[in-house]
Amino acid sequence: MSQPLLTLDFLDTPAAPAAADHQPAQDVRVSPATRTGRQRKLYIESYGCQMNFSDSEIVSSILFEEGFDTTEQLSDADLVLLNTCSIREKAEQTVRMRLSQINSHKKRNPGLLVGVLGCMAERLKSKFLEEEKLVDLVVGPDAYRDLPNLIREVDGGQKAVNVLLSRDETYADITPVRLNSNGITAFVSIMRGCDNMCSFCVVPFTRGRERSRDAHSIVQECRDLVAQGYKEVTLLGQNVDSYKWTSEDGQEFVNFAQLLERVALISPELRVRFSTSHPKDITDEVLYTMGKYENICKYIHLPAQSGNSRVLKLMNRTYDRPWYEERVLAIRRILGEDCAISTDMIAGFCSETEEEHQDTLSLIDFVQYDMGYNFFYSERPGTLAARKLADDIPLEVKKRRLQEVIDRQQLHARARYARMVGRVHRVLVEGRSKRSEEQLSGRNSQNQVVIFPKGTAQKGDYVNVLVTSTTGAALLGEIV
Ligand code: SAH
Ligand code: SF4
Ligand code: F3S
Repeated sequence: MSQPLLTLDFLDTPAAPAAADHQPAQDVRVSPATRTGRQRKLYIESYGCQMNFSDSEIVSSILFEEGFDTTEQLSDADLVLLNTCSIREKAEQTVRMRLSQINSHKKRNPGLLVGVLGCMAERLKSKFLEEEKLVDLVVGPDAYRDLPNLIREVDGGQKAVNVLLSRDETYADITPVRLNSNGITAFVSIMRGCDNMCSFCVVPFTRGRERSRDAHSIVQECRDLVAQGYKEVTLLGQNVDSYKWTSEDGQEFVNFAQLLERVALISPELRVRFSTSHPKDITDEVLYTMGKYENICKYIHLPAQSGNSRVLKLMNRTYDRPWYEERVLAIRRILGEDCAISTDMIAGFCSETEEEHQDTLSLIDFVQYDMGYNFFYSERPGTLAARKLADDIPLEVKKRRLQEVIDRQQLHARARYARMVGRVHRVLVEGRSKRSEEQLSGRNSQNQVVIFPKGTAQKGDYVNVLVTSTTGAALLGEIV
C-alpha cells in the first residue's frame, strides 16, 4: 500500500504553482485521527477544492455520531471514503488510480467497506458500481445525512447509492469535526451549488442548484470558532458574491456584503477571508465593506478564465474583458494597490486563437496578479462546451500556452512579493515553518506567506514582521 501525498501541514504553500495543471486545490488531504474510543474506524481522503475538504468535516461529524473515529492509517480502517473531484480529467484519473491501490488492500482485508463521495460520485452515479467493483457505496454531496442508513445497507451485504441533489440542503445545523485545521484557521461553508453554467464546468451538474446557508448559523459557527481559539475563518462558496439569504418570515434579508460585516464584527481578533468571487457579481458594497474593517483580509480571488471577450462569451462567463478590467480598477480605487488579487486561467479553450491567448497574457499584465491557478482546458462530459464546441486545440499547444500563462503570472507574482520588502506586515502565526524548527510561518492580510525567526511568538499570535527579503514565493523577515 503506498501512502498518498500528505498535505495536512499546509503552511509555506508556494504562492505561485510551479507545475502545469497542478495547484493546491488538487492536493489530497487525509483526515487526521480522532481517538475517542469509538468502535469503528473511518479513513477519509479528500480531493479537489476547499468545499470538499469542508464537506469531509461534515461527513466525519455525521459518522462520529454513528460510532466512527477517524484514522490516518488506511490499514486500521473499517470504512474508507474518498471525497472526489471531477473538475478536470486528471482529477478523476487520480481517484481511479487510488481506487486500484485500495482494491489490492481490500483483497487482503475483505471486510473493508469502500465508499466514493463528492463530485465524481454525483457525476457517475451507479455507473461507479459497475466500473469499480470494489466500491460498496456511492454518495453525492447533498446526501451525506443518509450515510448512516446507507452504511447499514452495506453492512447488510448490499451496495448502496444516494446521489439525490437538493435545493435546500446546507448542513447548517451540523457542527463540522475540524479535520483540515491547524487550530487557528477554519473553513466555513456559506453556500452550496452553482447556478452559473460556465460552459466548461462540471460543478453545476455535480453540486446542483445554488443555495445560501442561514446567516445566523454562519455567524454562530464563527463565534464558536472564536471561543475555541480560532483566529481566521474563510467563508466558502463557488460564488460567494451571490450569497443571499432571507429569513423564513421574510423580515430579514442578508447579502454577501452584510454577511461579511456581521462576521467581521464578531471580534477584531478574527481574520475573515472568502473565496470565490465571481467577476460578474462582486459589488462595490463588498469592496467598501472590506475597506471598512481591518480584519477583513485584503485579498480577492477573482478568476478571469480568459482575457479575451469572444472566448469569455463562449465560456458563458457573462462578463467581457472591459467589465473585468473595470472591476479590477474598482478594487484598486476602493482598496488601493496593496489589495492582492488572484485568478484562475484556462489555456487552450475551444477555438482559442493565438491572438486570443495573447489577450490572456495582456490581461495578466494589466492586473499584475499576486497569485494564479492555471490549467489547460479539459473537456468534461455533459457540459455545454462538450455538447456544443469542438475541443480543437492540440494538447501540445494547450500545454505551451499554459506554460506561457504560468510564466507571465509568476513574473508579476515575484514583483508583487518584491514590493512588500522593507515594510512591516501584521502576520497571523500559523505554526512552525517547514524550513526549520527555529522559524515560524504565517500569512499577511494579502495571503502571502511570511517566515521569520520565532523569538517568543506562538501559533495564533499576531506579530509585526519587518520583511527584509523574498524568495519570490514567500516573504522573509523578523519580528519588530
Ligand atoms: N466557482 C469558481 C471556480 C471553481 S472551479 C469560479 O467561477 O471562478 C476552479 C477552477 O477550475 C475554475 O476557475 C477553472 O479555472 C478551472 N476549471 C473548471 N473547469 C475546467 C475545465 N473543464 N478544464 C480546465 N479547467 C477547468
Ligand atoms: Fe463552475 Fe462557473 Fe460555477 Fe465557477 S461559476 S463553479 S466555473 S459554473
Ligand atoms: Fe472538484 Fe467538485 Fe470542487 S468538481 S473543484 S470537488 S466542487
